[in-house]
Amino acid sequence: MTESPARGEAPDVTADLLPDDALEASSVVANRAMNRERRLAGRDGYARVLGHDILGLPPGARWLDLCCGSGRALLDAADARPDLDITGVDLVGYFAAAGPVRFVAASITTWLPGARYDLVTCVHGLHYVGDKLGALLRAASWLSDHGVFVANFDVAGIQAPGGARRVLRALRSAGFEYDARTHRIRRDGPFSGTLPFRYLGADDRAGPNYTGQPAVASHYSAL
Ligand SMILES: C[S@@+](CC[C@H](N)C(=O)[O-])C[C@H]1O[C@@H](n2cnc3c(N)ncnc32)[C@H](O)[C@@H]1O
Repeated sequence: MTESPARGEAPDVTADLLPDDALEASSVVANRAMNRERRLAGRDGYARVLGHDILGLPPGARWLDLCCGSGRALLDAADARPDLDITGVDLVGYFAAAGPVRFVAASITTWLPGARYDLVTCVHGLHYVGDKLGALLRAASWLSDHGVFVANFDVAGIQAPGGARRVLRALRSAGFEYDARTHRIRRDGPFSGTLPFRYLGADDRAGPNYTGQPAVASHYSAL
């Protein structure tokens, strides 16, 4: 039984935080209402959601999409640009088809790539990841010298001492640019440093974020 805090004491929210295995089995992460079928083009397509011209990649470029869902956008890109080397990773292995795209069923918090990428993307996936800051660092470390990382990211999903301001300051020092209006984060070129936070666990009861879907809050202490 969890003890109630003494009068005047703040409740210890970290006591109920989920480790990755429990989070990945939670109904928020397995939510059937989430859109896993986004295409490359169109009003709600990858290019528009990321504000990035994926088909403008140079010939033979390598594209890695994290939390790729069914992978339809990747298959669209492979149709339009058969020269691209495309990999998609998602926790759930319900991929639309294999074809020319390499699909991997794995968590982006543990999966390790065997290559560097010219583009790493994550479309509305970080909202469901436990260690979001760790995932940002991992993704940025997989970039080629001129590679770009771009993802949807909600800084309000990070609970850390000093709040969003301190988190954004640390991310900026690590070369990440965050646009609070579009909720996009970007980094150009690889990064192999750290951030001054320690991941504590995830809260799957944080409620909806800016997308309107229930999201996961990620808790950190300061280092
Ligand atoms: C809203 S869907 C977006 C899917 C796709 N990017 C799209 O836009 O169609 C979020 C995806 O993140 C995946 N996901 C959540 N946590 C993950 C993790 N730790 N590792 C890999 N994928 C994860 C879910 O399985 C889901 O397919």
